[in-house]
Amino acid sequence: MKPIKVGLLGIGTVGSGVFHVLQRNQQEIMRRAGRGIEITMIAARNTERARKICGDTIQVVAQASDVVNNPEIDIVVELIGGYETARELVLQAIANGKHVVTANKALLAIHGNEIFKAAQEKGVMVAFEAAVAGGIPIIKALREGLTANRIEWIAGIINGTTNFILSEMRDKGLSFQEVLKQAQELGYAEADPTFDIEGVDAAHKATIMASIAYGIPMQFDKAYVEGITQLEAIDIQFAEELGYRIKLLGIAKRVAEGVELRVHPTLVPAKRLIANVEGAMNAVLVQSDAVGTTLYYGKGAGSEPTASSVIADLVDVTRLATADPEHRVPHLAFQPDAISNLPILPI
Ligand code: HSE
Repeated sequence: MKPIKVGLLGIGTVGSGVFHVLQRNQQEIMRRAGRGIEITMIAARNTERARKICGDTIQVVAQASDVVNNPEIDIVVELIGGYETARELVLQAIANGKHVVTANKALLAIHGNEIFKAAQEKGVMVAFEAAVAGGIPIIKALREGLTANRIEWIAGIINGTTNFILSEMRDKGLSFQEVLKQAQELGYAEADPTFDIEGVDAAHKATIMASIAYGIPMQFDKAYVEGITQLEAIDIQFAEELGYRIKLLGIAKRVAEGVELRVHPTLVPAKRLIANVEGAMNAVLVQSDAVGTTLYYGKGAGSEPTASSVIADLVDVTRLATADPEHRVPHLAFQPDAISNLPILPI
């Protein structure tokens, strides 16, 4: 069978990771997908840099629309980030009958409902494992592994930058600004780091997890969002003295009247596993009725960890795109025609 053809939009940190891991593990990935997965086209702002990463065999273009409108491309991988341009490109790809893989949590939290509706109408898949907690397969855990369960709550350290800041402030007594600078240099922080430190990035991710866990539309606008900018070294020190750690948690919780969706600094008893998640690592705790508590831990950002999730989606989409369309499992956060009516409650 001919390889499935993939077009990448963006070849920055994550895109170059996708390229390298696909190349390095080509044989295993092909066996698992049942068919080759070939990147045939890349759109990059800096075409010279892109050619240096991927060589001469792949077509490099400056316009992302050239990838999205190319009839040869089967799957578009959106890695450019941001809201509006990404939204237009993803909707155009869907309109052109292409499957989409994206790592863009902001895009899905804000425009996910529109995107999933368009995908469902067109009969294409939108996969987004890399959008939440980087390399941790939390989307698959919520949607597949825990599918038999009623999910009671999810609580996660889902922003590496803020966890890194809180850990370094505690361990090294550094100031907030000093550690934020380090996080930016290490490539953990978003292009606009206010998204990290104000809790917005974690709220995007919590919105997506709530949507899957409770079968509700994306409702980022109803989330309570509080970041770590009001915290001082003394807060961290007092918490420590009382036997707690301060963690920025993204929480989605089913209560009698609906769902609570919130991000805020939380006092976690120091003995708990999640209190000991340090640096830029992520961890997500899920409480469900059948299995009880499960914990997912790993790298929530970075080139190859995030690429690992993007490629997992490429393999899934390849398998499903190759299967009989009547028997596909839709890769949507929720079924737009089977939405649950649980409201997000004001906090
Ligand atoms: N800025 C994000 C973080 C990157 O710090 O977790 C991964 O989504």
